[in-house]
Amino acid sequence: MKKVRLGTTDEFVPAIGQGTWKMGQDPAKRSQEVQALRDGIAHGATLIDTAEMYSEGEAERIVADAVHDVRDQIFLVTKVWPTNASYDGVLRAAAGSLRRLRTDRIDLYLLHWPSAEHPISETMRAMRKLAEDGSVRYIGVSNFSDELLAEAQDALGDRLIVCNQVVYNLQNRIIEKRVKPYCDQHGITVMAYSPLGDGRFPEPGTEGRAVLDKIAAKYGKTPYQVALNWLIAQGNVIAIPKASNPRHAVENAQAAGFELAGEDLAEIAQAFPLPAGDFVVRRL
Ligand SMILES: NC(=O)c1ccc[n+]([C@@H]2O[C@H](COP(=O)([O-])OP(=O)(O)OC[C@H]3O[C@@H](n4cnc5c(N)ncnc54)[C@H](OP(=O)(O)O)[C@@H]3O)[C@@H](O)[C@H]2O)c1
Repeated sequence: MKKVRLGTTDEFVPAIGQGTWKMGQDPAKRSQEVQALRDGIAHGATLIDTAEMYSEGEAERIVADAVHDVRDQIFLVTKVWPTNASYDGVLRAAAGSLRRLRTDRIDLYLLHWPSAEHPISETMRAMRKLAEDGSVRYIGVSNFSDELLAEAQDALGDRLIVCNQVVYNLQNRIIEKRVKPYCDQHGITVMAYSPLGDGRFPEPGTEGRAVLDKIAAKYGKTPYQVALNWLIAQGNVIAIPKASNPRHAVENAQAAGFELAGEDLAEIAQAFPLPAGDFVVRRL
């Protein structure tokens, strides 16, 4: 598995991890979801992203079941929901996540969205406290613009933000305008969420899909693997596709094992041009 440096730390994490949004919604699918995560792990996708909000904590419990006997090989990412982002709320939320994940440490703890209610400085003070206590190893944010990243980093002082988790897929390349250049310059790793478009992958019959299919055939890969590979080829990017289907989980983990040639990277970029507008900050 290709590795990516986490922020400016000495930690290297898999370029392709595994998401868990919507896992835990259907009890009938639970064992398959645990198996999908385990199969992904067996193929090197040992970074797992979850959140207290996903299925009201059930996704974190599924992750706990998937990693219980391999915890030391896993890089666990979870998130605090913005309405819990007061100082005490963050400490309480982290304790709840640790309990559901059945672990003594969160490898990377993220503020899930900018909060409409709680000042960033207060949230970051709690994040710092968790890092000092050792229950959180690294601090990050999600859905942050370049301006908000600067504000959060100011509040944290010498404890660095290592990651900004943002939407990034071929049909939504908006972060390439300002957010990603800022992250690249400041040593903040971009974690690409919905890297396969959250179920809206380019449809067969479209021009973009034809390009993906053609390039996939050239490398003996699937168009999904080509799309993930293109994202991580942009550098400083970790992609976290979600797969409840074990076959998808393995396919995704294997998407890091080849390199697209420059001409193919360029052809894909041309087929999926940058959208108009700019990254819009939403506060929840
Ligand atoms: N920070 C945030 O605000 C935020 C927001 C959204 C997502 N996220 C994180 O990012 C993760 C990924 O994003 P996402 O769940 O929105 O969407 P995604 O990973 O872009 O797409 C998931 C969908 O793609 C399907 N899929 C996965 N691998 C496939 C493959 N190889 N071939 C065909 N289909 C495949 C999945 O099907 P099956 O499940 O049936 O395999 C599922 O329907 C989330 O799970 C979550 O951890 C974070």
